[in-house]
Amino acid sequence: HKVVWLSRHGESIYNIEKKIGGNSLLSERGELYSEKLPSIIKNECNVSDELIVWTSTLTRTQQTAQHLPYKTKLTWKALDELDAGLCDGMTYEEIESKYPDDFKQRDEDKYGYRYRGGESYRDVVIRLEPVIMELERQQNILIITHQAVLRCIYSYFMNIPQDQSPWVAIPLHTLIRLEVRPYGPCKVTLFKANI
Ligand code: F6P
Repeated sequence: HKVVWLSRHGESIYNIEKKIGGNSLLSERGELYSEKLPSIIKNECNVSDELIVWTSTLTRTQQTAQHLPYKTKLTWKALDELDAGLCDGMTYEEIESKYPDDFKQRDEDKYGYRYRGGESYRDVVIRLEPVIMELERQQNILIITHQAVLRCIYSYFMNIPQDQSPWVAIPLHTLIRLEVRPYGPCKVTLFKANI
């Protein structure tokens, strides 16, 4: 069976400050995850194959991949986090007080809501199309990317309806193994790092 490996980047400074978007570095805990990731793959998952690592262009995903011993690491702009436009760098509280109507609209239609000057989940799904096509063709891919992007990729493989995908829980510091089956749903295994 074909296997796809997925992970969010380790905890970032912005995650701690509860700010969205940006291009911050990993926190100390996030760095610890990047240090542990190679042994999680080797010891817990028994992966002996060389993996190909795909990250976004943002620092936090590349930092998360930095200790992985594999030769091929590719960066995709299409794997960058959902662009929050004018709200980039704000907390949800700040967004709610500055743009209350937008905040409400997003809650009512999280899949379709497009940030001012930014993107919606629907936009992300569209820009992910080449990534998904390449994933379908390849073997042994490990994708290290962001919460919203992973929700879209995960929902695609798990057949989760698009309007529900923005609510799917993708935990931090957890490696996800998806065994893709030609008929029926994927088999999911989670490997949680003890950090
Ligand atoms: O908070 C981390 C983060 O990746 C943000 O950068 C991004 O805007 C957000 O999660 C996406 O999650 P949600 O769609 O639930 O706001």
